[in-house]
Amino acid sequence: MHNDIKQVLLTKEQIAKRVEEMGKQITADYEGKDLIVVVLLKGAAWFATDLTRAIDLPLRVDFMVASSYGIGTSTTGNVKVKLDVSENIAGKHVLLIDDIIDSGVTFAAISDMLRQNKPASLKTVALCDKAERRINGMEADYVGFKIPDEFVVGFGLDYAGDYRNLPYIGVLKPAVYARK
Ligand code: IMP
Ligand code: MG
Repeated sequence: MHNDIKQVLLTKEQIAKRVEEMGKQITADYEGKDLIVVVLLKGAAWFATDLTRAIDLPLRVDFMVASSYGIGTSTTGNVKVKLDVSENIAGKHVLLIDDIIDSGVTFAAISDMLRQNKPASLKTVALCDKAERRINGMEADYVGFKIPDEFVVGFGLDYAGDYRNLPYIGVLKPAVYARK
């Protein structure tokens, strides 16, 4: 285990098993539909590469870069798009994927933006859900794990850009925040 991690919340094995289940569910739900997966970079990249390989349907993948965080641990509430989708999503079934839903601001803002391009449907997928932190009633349509209100890193999730490559999801030691 990485020396900065206090506790592993979700092991590599737990994540892999849940991602397989989510892929099966999505496969069943989208059978016969034109599916485009929109991945929010950077954090959702790790989850999305596994999830898309667990979806047994033809699909296309696109990426967006949006940010509402500086280097802190909670949203600034102001979502900026730094890279937009390049696929034409009009008339397509869109699945928007993020690593975690926290305040709900990112999913709410990006969903509004994507809806302007008239997708046939739009649903959201998050590997983790910190429901207690929601400020806007937004719910993800597919959730991997409900987790407690703690800042987590690993499997794509970062703190100030670090720890994304950890194969598990864990909680940082308090000393780490004091250091950065
Ligand atoms: P929201 O807009 O507040 O729902 O936050 C979603 C975004 O916040 C995610 O894409 C993450 O980048 C980031 N985020 C929220 N909670 C955490 C966390 O515990 N660890 C790392 N990133 C987080
Ligand atoms: Mg993120």
